[in-house]
Amino acid sequence: MEKTTLVQFIRRQEKLVDGATGNFTSLMNEILVAAKIVSLEVNCAGIGESIFGLTGKVNVHGEEVQKLDEFADNTFAKLVGQSGTVCAITSEELEKPIIVPKDQAGKYIFMMDPLDGSSNVDVNVSIGTIFSIYRKKTPGDEVTTEDLLQKASEQVAAGYIIYGPSTLFIYTSGNGVHGFTLDPTLGEFFLSHPNLRIPRQGSWYSINEGNVEKWTDKQKRLVDYLKEKDPETHRPYKLRYIGSLVADFHRTLLKGGIFMYPGDRNSPEGKLRFQFEAAPLAFVVANAGGTASDGVKRIMDHTPGDIHEKSPLFIGSVNEVELAESMLK
Ligand code: AHG
Ligand code: MN
Ligand code: MN
Repeated sequence: MEKTTLVQFIRRQEKLVDGATGNFTSLMNEILVAAKIVSLEVNCAGIGESIFGLTGKVNVHGEEVQKLDEFADNTFAKLVGQSGTVCAITSEELEKPIIVPKDQAGKYIFMMDPLDGSSNVDVNVSIGTIFSIYRKKTPGDEVTTEDLLQKASEQVAAGYIIYGPSTLFIYTSGNGVHGFTLDPTLGEFFLSHPNLRIPRQGSWYSINEGNVEKWTDKQKRLVDYLKEKDPETHRPYKLRYIGSLVADFHRTLLKGGIFMYPGDRNSPEGKLRFQFEAAPLAFVVANAGGTASDGVKRIMDHTPGDIHEKSPLFIGSVNEVELAESMLK
């Protein structure tokens, strides 16, 4: 099979976009270079000056910041920030947006969870980066709240990188979902998963059952239903939970089923961030024939009220997400 690099693929896709000026291609090129740098760091974590462990800082959510969180955040922010294609960058790790100086700014807005699954860094389990790209909406140079808080369906592109047994770069710009595997010897991403489609129904569910005591009765009933034996409705489902959203989502995308991070009595909005986790993965799964909900409303239909807003997340095959919505109503 002819080998297509990610750079070649992005350039070809650009031709599909009316009025494309090459800025999107330049932005994606910076993202993939940052991904290679972080991948190298992750794969060497633990050797020499250790990148393992904590920085001793906490982020806006009061979560401990791992050294790799900070390394990934700095790497993506630097390369994307100097690409000349974005006017603002928001990150799970940054309380405030980075506003790019006018003379170096472009028309895109870049949002990221620079390192997802960071509690898994020190135990050598797959982790990742999640990103989302919007277009600046308001005229003029000033970046406004309206630019930074857009409806999820306004995304121009979104994707994630998994630093796992292999480094995978998965993204969509609205023309299908495509995956690329990093060849570490050549330092190139090659097309390995063209046109990914999620099965309409699956036999896997993914949730942290350790939280069961905090769930609502409807959430408990939903999970009990998935575990009951009924061949007619292909139950019981199998449970898989890695604790890195990118890895749990990627398995769901390839095999079907549902990933759930519900709200609970202590945190009704759940744990996951709307703009850095729920919205980008909702855009990816929608372009692969799946869907995502907060349990009541589709993620793609929601406009966040705050950069660091959290959201319950039910994402995966249409069949299972619709089942979840019907039982949670
Ligand atoms: P992050 O490392 O970016 O904070 O994300 C961690 C998230 C997500 O990756 C995962 O699905 C979830 O935390 C796991 O949470 P629990 O450990 O509470 O199950
Ligand atoms: Mn995360
Ligand atoms: Mn993170």
